[in-house]
Amino acid sequence: MRKEYVYQAFERFWHWTQAALILFLGVTGFEIHGTFHFFGYAQAVHFHNIAAIAFLILIAFAIFWHFSTGEWRQYIPTLTNLRAQGEYYVLGIFRNSPHPLKKSVLSKLNPLQKLVYAGLKLLVIPVIALSGLLYMFYRYPQRYEVIALRIESLRTIALIHTAGAFLLVAFFIAHLYLITTGRTLTSNLKAMLTGFEELENEPNHAPEERSQP
Ligand code: HEM
Repeated sequence: MRKEYVYQAFERFWHWTQAALILFLGVTGFEIHGTFHFFGYAQAVHFHNIAAIAFLILIAFAIFWHFSTGEWRQYIPTLTNLRAQGEYYVLGIFRNSPHPLKKSVLSKLNPLQKLVYAGLKLLVIPVIALSGLLYMFYRYPQRYEVIALRIESLRTIALIHTAGAFLLVAFFIAHLYLITTGRTLTSNLKAMLTGFEELENEPNHAPEERSQP
């Protein structure tokens, strides 16, 4: 085993800030939705709007970081070993089988993570952010007689935004469980807190990566 610096400082900051903001947006959002009462409707709307702006700023910095470091490549989905990883989560993990793929600094996401995280980044988060912005500003274009954003369309926007919120809540719950499925119960959590993780000596790259120079 060797200790490797897997998660850089900005990456950890972005991860934990994003987690806190999504949790807070979920709590305030579902209060707005009417699921429960905690802050009070008006305060929930106020807090949701502030957290949403913070989330958008964080997203802008994260996009810059992913492209300037080239880390966006970690998220390119692949079918290679996708089945093996799925079988591990459904069966292998309960039979104490070894992880099908070994993590490395250059390949820190397994094929299922690549697929799910790419889906979040390219689909769920853009949809929730765009529908949230339309929800936030629908009144203003209406004032200037922009017919397409009249109040009738708000229903669809609210439905799309809420669907995105349910998907994020489902992801959040699955993510909490999957955090515990690393090499040890807490190794994934410790790595995202400190940046360092104990990795096996020989990174087991996917076949197409192995053939690269
Ligand atoms: C950039 C991101 C976001 C923006 C701009 C945004 C904006 C908004 C706005 C303006 C509203 C309506 C408030 C009102 O009634 O006046 C709203 C509602 C809501 N938001 Fe967000 N939001 C964002 C992210 C999120 C996230 C990440 C979640 C969940 C994890 C979420 C969950 C909800 C829910 C459940 C509602 C209530 C929808 C309804 O019942 O109509 N939002 N959001």
